[in-house]
Amino acid sequence: TKEGYPHYLLKEIHEQPESVFRAMGRGGRLLPDFGSALLAGLNLEKRDFFDIKKIHIIAMGTAYYAGELGKFIIEDLARIPVEVSDASEMCGMNPIVDKDTLFVAVSQSGETRDTIAAIQEIQQKGGRVVGLVNTVGSTLARMTDGGVYIHAGSEISVASTKAFSNQVTVLILMALMIGRSRDISLSRGRELVAELKALPGKIQDILDRGSELRNMAEKLKDYQSILYLGRGINYPVALEAALKMKEVSYIHAEAYSAGSLKHGPLALISEEMPSVFICTSGDYQEKTISNIQEVKARGGKVFVISNYKDSNLENLADEIFIVPGSDEAISPLLTIVPCQLLGYYTALALGRDIDQPRNLAKSVTVE
Ligand code: F6R
Repeated sequence: TKEGYPHYLLKEIHEQPESVFRAMGRGGRLLPDFGSALLAGLNLEKRDFFDIKKIHIIAMGTAYYAGELGKFIIEDLARIPVEVSDASEMCGMNPIVDKDTLFVAVSQSGETRDTIAAIQEIQQKGGRVVGLVNTVGSTLARMTDGGVYIHAGSEISVASTKAFSNQVTVLILMALMIGRSRDISLSRGRELVAELKALPGKIQDILDRGSELRNMAEKLKDYQSILYLGRGINYPVALEAALKMKEVSYIHAEAYSAGSLKHGPLALISEEMPSVFICTSGDYQEKTISNIQEVKARGGKVFVISNYKDSNLENLADEIFIVPGSDEAISPLLTIVPCQLLGYYTALALGRDIDQPRNLAKSVTVE
């Protein structure tokens, strides 16, 4: 049931403080003393973590974007190269499979035809596959050599929200677990565990300010098209945010890395083309701000999701929503929440069929 919410999408967005906590095994998957995590279902020994030379994530749609975030976080914390593949592009493409690569299938339903077909092909070649799956006992969960349930609970809305957050959370745990047995220090590990523990409360803080996003949605709803822009870890957030907007509101939304603006998309900027920037503190902050200036100078409206207060940024932005600050590795789990709400409230204002967008199915069981 919707438990008093008008739509499953809104209910599931609001469940995220609780669902990310479940992804952490209600704390049981965290090892605070060791500054690490434990994902027993992966069936990997400490030694395996040394032997892995590469991780290859296979998924579709929102799960694919979770994988793109996983790439960023695993490469940063565990220093292992990660490739992310669109499963539909792998089937019949003679994928390269070797014994030093760990394949990771990410899927909410565990029934996505493209992902299953890619995994079958990899397994036929002797590849080792683990699954990050939500649906217990699903086809993918049964096929894989090891796996971790993401424990998002049942997700009814076609547009995925809490499953995405739980996929990213488990990928962070995986990065932490592999990273701690290779590269990162105890103190850094402990810092990340503390950040994970603080996450549910920070998501709740955003949800409590949901009405601000409703106002922002009123300002976005009449546009034909919206650009989503971000650098580094914020680029996959922009990709997922744009997917949410187009799925539920039917407004064309497209994500680019902010750095690629000048290489083409800048030609689209005018009064009719607003941009949503994901701009967090850290390495890309200054460069992202200069991209915002470029858009403003061309008459484009700028909506900003940031995680720090800054008068320069606040003056530049036409609209700004600030999420709580966090470690960079955790920040996507915060910046994505206002983007999900922005999609929801825009669709609501436009009277869309929010839980059942036209032409889409919850689980894509055909190729
Ligand atoms: C978007 C969405 C889809 C799914 C994709 C993969 O909101 O829900 O893009 O993420 O179809 O589905 P699963 O995760 O079930 O393999």
